[in-house]
Amino acid sequence: EGVLPHRAAQLLRDARRVVVFTGAGISAESGVPTFRDDLSGLWARFDAQRLATAEAFHTDPDLVWGWYEWRRTRVLRAEPNSGHLAIATIEARAPSTTVITQNVDDLHERAGTRAAIHLHGSLFTPRCVAAAGHPATLPDPPDGDVARPHEGGRIPPPRCASCGLLVRPGVVWFGEALPEAALTAAVEAAAASDVLLTVGTSGVVYPAAEIPRIAARSGAAVIQVNPEPTPLDRVSAVNLRGPAAQVLPALVAAAWKETDKT
Ligand code: NAD
Ligand code: APR
Repeated sequence: EGVLPHRAAQLLRDARRVVVFTGAGISAESGVPTFRDDLSGLWARFDAQRLATAEAFHTDPDLVWGWYEWRRTRVLRAEPNSGHLAIATIEARAPSTTVITQNVDDLHERAGTRAAIHLHGSLFTPRCVAAAGHPATLPDPPDGDVARPHEGGRIPPPRCASCGLLVRPGVVWFGEALPEAALTAAVEAAAASDVLLTVGTSGVVYPAAEIPRIAARSGAAVIQVNPEPTPLDRVSAVNLRGPAAQVLPALVAAAWKETDKT
């Protein structure tokens, strides 16, 4: 990983309001597959554009619920990695930090981040399909391996205890609007930030991908952590080309090394 650009560490240390914006890549080193990586891309294998839609759930609820239960068991068996932990350290060190994620896993929370803004919902907040969206409790995770969709993995979703309709994953599907309150809070935090650290996102899915661009337009310095180039290169003041679990701990150590010595 070489010597971290001094500039990124200085920007982070001197920032008053930090936003950390994460995508699937922050959880890749925890073994949770990303969506668009060639090798491990979740979409590549399951044609998730088809599965992650309200229409697919309506047509075949057991297939879609089974897919999300497969993802939930993967997350339950995963551990937060040193990238998630470094973000929790930033929250402890910077005067103000807002963590915004596109991920539906709970690894930020398990690493100590208390109030991550989930723009695309979460695997752990299922609700019923009624307009009221009654909150539902998750069944105990299936023990043993959940087969994947293309291996015939199908699990009938539970029924809502309040109204008897089907329970669906609490995830924002393709074509669905993002939760209003989450998006508003994310836009406000980005517009007020001095530094926005974007980690592990391909920056191609809107409106989430707007967040780093809003920060840049408001004068914030954007620092990107991603082993690959992305469209966000153009708005980044510093590009740290590497995996988050290596780059973030080094960045945090470099930013606050003097406080470590005291
Ligand atoms: P989409 O193509 O439906 O676009 C989402 C919304 O963003 C649309 O209203 C679109 O008009 C708007 N938009 C497009 N370009 C924009 C721009 N430049 N600035 C502002 N807004 C813009 O999105 P999608 O790919 O169909 O997915 C919808 C949402 O569901 C996305 O946020 C996606 O990330 C999310 N999703 C989540 C999962 C999951 O499993 N977590 C899976 C699939 C999709
Ligand atoms: N460290 C940092 N970045 C990584 C790592 C890593 N170890 N491994 C992969 N990446 C990067 C990839 O280079 C890629 O740019 O993470 C990014 C993953 O991109 P996507 O798979 O597109 O995930 P994401 O950007 O979160 O997708 C956005 O689209 O499918 C919808 O709602 C879904 O939230 C998702 C949204």
